[in-house]
Amino acid sequence: MKAIVYTKYGGPEVLQLKEIEKPTPKDNEVLIKVHAVSLNDWDMGLLTGDFVNRIINGMFKPKRKIVGSDIAGRIEAVGKNITKFKIGDDVYGDLSGRWGGLAEYTCTPEKYLAIKPPAMSYVDAASIPQAAMLAVQGLIDKGKIQAGQKLLINGAGGGVGTFGIQIAKQYGVESTAVDSGIKLDMLRSIGFDHVIDYKKEDFTMNGKTYDLILDVKTNRSIFQYTQALAPHGKYVTVGGFNSRLLQALLVGPLISMTQKKKIIIVPLKQNKDLLYMNELFETGKMKPVIHGPYKIDEFAEAFRVYSKAEQKGKVVITMSS
Ligand SMILES: NC(=O)c1ccc[n+]([C@@H]2O[C@H](COP(=O)([O-])OP(=O)(O)OC[C@H]3O[C@@H](n4cnc5c(N)ncnc54)[C@H](OP(=O)(O)O)[C@@H]3O)[C@@H](O)[C@H]2O)c1
Repeated sequence: MKAIVYTKYGGPEVLQLKEIEKPTPKDNEVLIKVHAVSLNDWDMGLLTGDFVNRIINGMFKPKRKIVGSDIAGRIEAVGKNITKFKIGDDVYGDLSGRWGGLAEYTCTPEKYLAIKPPAMSYVDAASIPQAAMLAVQGLIDKGKIQAGQKLLINGAGGGVGTFGIQIAKQYGVESTAVDSGIKLDMLRSIGFDHVIDYKKEDFTMNGKTYDLILDVKTNRSIFQYTQALAPHGKYVTVGGFNSRLLQALLVGPLISMTQKKKIIIVPLKQNKDLLYMNELFETGKMKPVIHGPYKIDEFAEAFRVYSKAEQKGKVVITMSS
């Protein structure tokens, strides 16, 4: 089978399209013919080998040689202990922790998967898992989003933000997106009421305040974010610069005590809300924003675009040649 493989840490140039052996499922695994894969920040971390990912995947060279977590495909074989799925089921999910998605076939335990609705394309399905889970868990579980609130999403033009606005719309909030200028038309078109180009305006310095801020970049001091929160407002971050996240972790509880504003970091619960996303999709309330899809042999361009954050929405690669 074909797979996009790396044997040393580096940029997208270390990835190679290779013929490797097709995997065989263990008793507790299914074999999936992968149709589509979306790229995530974590794939880039594993590829470049930042410190945290070297701890996970090998200090000097990668132990797991195929990245790619968010996949959609069809089950082609099942191990003898599989109870939830059968051959021929269309499934999707986030395989983070195992990865191996950027291949024509991959094996995984069934807990990583949900049934893909028939009307949802493989490309749409592959775009959903990690980004949509962070959006649901950031806005609903941690942010406790409520009707009438003012919401701001910082870094709104990627995966989390484009799902986030569609989830937020279910609650009747007034929404503001922050991203670079080239993404603002798209962000308006998917439902944001207001947009801010972060290269022209700093939303923490313009005097406006928000009841809920969802951040995917966390590139400022926590005190700056606090300034942009309304009384009783919540700042919810899903990721960004480690030093800023550490500051949020350490200082957040103090701010919560003294100012009645909440600072919250979201730990991803993989695949927890896929059925909710199925429901939003099937009722026409959610449509993924796709950048691409790229074909398997265009993987280098897909990674280049993603590494430069040029994408609008989710970068997807289709795996069948
Ligand atoms: N909490 C967890 O357990 C967990 C698990 C997995 C991933 N994560 C995190 O989740 C996040 C993934 O978000 P995503 O998939 O939506 O990312 P994404 O697709 O890369 O989108 C990020 C967006 O932010 C924009 N941006 C860049 N610099 C900015 C700035 N200074 N101000 C505002 N916007 C800016 C980028 O566009 P331009 O570059 O064009 O401006 C891009 O549109 C990452 O932070 C990742 O580390 C967290």
